[in-house]
Amino acid sequence: MAGKVLVVDDDASVQRLLQQTLRQEGYEVVIATEGTEAFRLWQQEAPSLILLDAVLQGTDGHDVAIRIRAAEAAGSHVPIIMLTADRDVQQKVRALRAGADDYLVKPFHPAELLARMKSLIARFAPGDTLVGRPPMGRIHAYYGAKGGVGTTTIAINTAIALRSLERRVCVVDGNLQFGDHRVFMDLPLDRKSIVDAVTAPSIDPDLLRSIVQTHESGVDLLLAPPSPEAADHVTAAHMHQVLASLATMYDYVIVDIDKRLDDLNLMVLDIAETIFAVMTADLSCLKNVRLLLETIGHLGYQSGKLKLVLNRSNAYTGVSIKSAEGALRRPIEHQIVNEYRGAISALNTGAPFMTGKADSVLGRSVMDFAKALDREQGHTVAQLQPGTAR
Ligand SMILES: Nc1ncnc2c1ncn2[C@@H]1O[C@H](COP(=O)(O)OP(=O)(O)OP(=O)(O)O)[C@@H](O)[C@H]1O
Ligand SMILES: [Mg+2]
Repeated sequence: MAGKVLVVDDDASVQRLLQQTLRQEGYEVVIATEGTEAFRLWQQEAPSLILLDAVLQGTDGHDVAIRIRAAEAAGSHVPIIMLTADRDVQQKVRALRAGADDYLVKPFHPAELLARMKSLIARFAPGDTLVGRPPMGRIHAYYGAKGGVGTTTIAINTAIALRSLERRVCVVDGNLQFGDHRVFMDLPLDRKSIVDAVTAPSIDPDLLRSIVQTHESGVDLLLAPPSPEAADHVTAAHMHQVLASLATMYDYVIVDIDKRLDDLNLMVLDIAETIFAVMTADLSCLKNVRLLLETIGHLGYQSGKLKLVLNRSNAYTGVSIKSAEGALRRPIEHQIVNEYRGAISALNTGAPFMTGKADSVLGRSVMDFAKALDREQGHTVAQLQPGTAR
């Protein structure tokens, strides 16, 4: 079963419609028609999510949300989606202030409701191993040695693989002008982006929590601006603040950047604990990796900070892995197999292969990579005691 949903609405036709839609998707549905009953059923039934009408007879939906949030035990959080007929932004703000996690204006499409529900349920699922321990706070930079080598494909799918290993993960689209995570994850242009963070008076975890988009896999996304010109708002100093703040909230903060060695990208490489340089076995890519290795050398980073990830490792390029390693005079630490159909169809449908096709050859290859890098960090988790600072 997909979970239990408490529907709080006094309109019988809305109740019927929601009940039908949710049951078809495998949810168990519990119905309350007014606030006191809603509060009682929340305590009694422990639903995975609440759909709460903003306007109820007797009590106001906002009061119900406020009451539930006040009564919740520390560390527990039932996701609440407020339903309303009002498009007014003030109403939205009021719903979020009352403690709702999301907001939908009636009439809405069932597919939108279900997508938002899934992402909230994944985000607040109990049993999350983060509860009771501080976040690992690892910042990983995924650097594309050349355009189109598969950096975004690997960054996003590794994030989903790490999430399935019970890690809390946020992916930051650091390709500020032409970021394409919205395409990879099928998200519209109206979703909040890093611009909403850097134009706020101060950048802190509460603000970032309200800006990241939770994918149905449970991975949070900090999207790139919706248009290239908006990227000018984001400076290297902003990005530094954003990443430092996200590191206090997540186990892994994965930043997807391109090959430019400008101020912003250098800052990301600097703050990152590990840099995964994604490459393919061709001469122009090898040339760029050599330049990157030189730059890294000048910056005085520890040798283990950079790891090479050879993507499409078994594709024929005329350059073998051995000769690539010879040319670079260092080993290539990780390899991801070539599976063009799986990768491109995932991109074009907006459904990353790690969500639906984790069992494919490509999915297994990314999972092996995620497990290997998580193992390297694993000892740190064991050392962390609940409540201790990093
Ligand atoms: N392991 C793989 N096997 C086959 N094709 C792949 C693989 N990884 C990525 N691709 C394909 O390579 C293309 C480029 O992928 P992607 O957008 O992830 O690269 P990128 O390095 O982020 O590009 P950009 O420079 O545009 O940011 C896509 O068509 C993708 O489907
Ligand atoms: Mg990319």
